[in-house]
Amino acid sequence: MSPTSFARSEVVESLVRDASMAPSMHNAQPWRFRYSRGGDSITLRADPERAMPHADPQLRALHLGCGAALFNLRVSAQHAGFRPVVTPLPDPDDWQTLAHVSLRESAGTIDPGLAGLYPAIAQRRTSRQPFDERPIPDELANRLVEQARAEGAQLAFLSGWHLSLVLDVIEEAELDSQHSGDPDEQRWVRTGVQLSDAVPDGIPETAFGPRKKDGRAPVRDFTRGRSPAGDTEPGTASFEHMPLLGLLCTEHDHPYDWLAAGQAMERTVLAATREGLATSFSTQALERSELRWLLRDPVWGAGPVQMVIRLGYGAPGRATPRRPVREVLDIVE
Ligand SMILES: Cc1cc2nc3c(=O)[nH]c(=O)nc-3n(C[C@H](O)[C@H](O)[C@H](O)COP(=O)(O)O)c2cc1C
Repeated sequence: MSPTSFARSEVVESLVRDASMAPSMHNAQPWRFRYSRGGDSITLRADPERAMPHADPQLRALHLGCGAALFNLRVSAQHAGFRPVVTPLPDPDDWQTLAHVSLRESAGTIDPGLAGLYPAIAQRRTSRQPFDERPIPDELANRLVEQARAEGAQLAFLSGWHLSLVLDVIEEAELDSQHSGDPDEQRWVRTGVQLSDAVPDGIPETAFGPRKKDGRAPVRDFTRGRSPAGDTEPGTASFEHMPLLGLLCTEHDHPYDWLAAGQAMERTVLAATREGLATSFSTQALERSELRWLLRDPVWGAGPVQMVIRLGYGAPGRATPRRPVREVLDIVE
């Protein structure tokens, strides 16, 4: 291997490491990357072994997580001085090939809006902690709406009857999944496992939040009512009574829209992280098609809901593991 191609491999590894910091449902990390030296390009592929047949039969959440990884890859590439050219879903006969990202030198300048989000990739974590009751300034909320729009999605902050309805629907979904059980959760949510146990995927108990004592925050109780073992017992806490929820919607509901929504979701939470906000996601209701449609605002008239994002001032989330780069990256000539 020539010194130049060795150096390029190191850069590609760091881009993929940043991409893998993305959020994914239950931290399944349903992605693979293939770097072609000849083409100087990275292909992002879905990993069906890490899909969730029960909670995500359509593979919508899988596309969201992979879209978030794609967004991180773009930010990291811009930060490293590239102008990546992205082709989403380049092969209509192969659903697993989600995006082709060319690193070849191309015309144009670095996008400071993307490169400036780089430090937030390492800082962002899903926070299942209570947030302050304090609202965020309108001007900041508007900037987050713009971030989502830049990726082709609509972000709307909820209030009044719509906030109440969304909280009710999520609570119903949460109670239902507590009773019925979810095999995907059982596979990926790791009660009794600490971050230090070095299990490379799934959600360790150290990243669960406290159980809700009161308040209406739509947080998932990963203990499912059981008392987790060990000294990481999350206990209970009061959550905010008026959670700040953003509904992320797209115009249509195809894989292309899910990938765009994943990028918009990540762009929004990275920008929020940069502004000192904590963020989390809530998808209990989105996992049930009959409940997902209820979340839409008939007055506002937006398209299908892709994600519910909770934002606020509060404690940052706890770390979750990632697989090593060598397990997710193939380098081919
Ligand atoms: C599509 C999707 C759905 C998610 N749903 C939830 C959820 O309902 N509740 C929750 O606490 N976290 C949810 N998460 C967050 C993941 O659990 C989290 O991203 C993962 O554990 C990795 O942790 P990190 O975000 O702190 O890096 C979701 C993430 C994605 C991308």
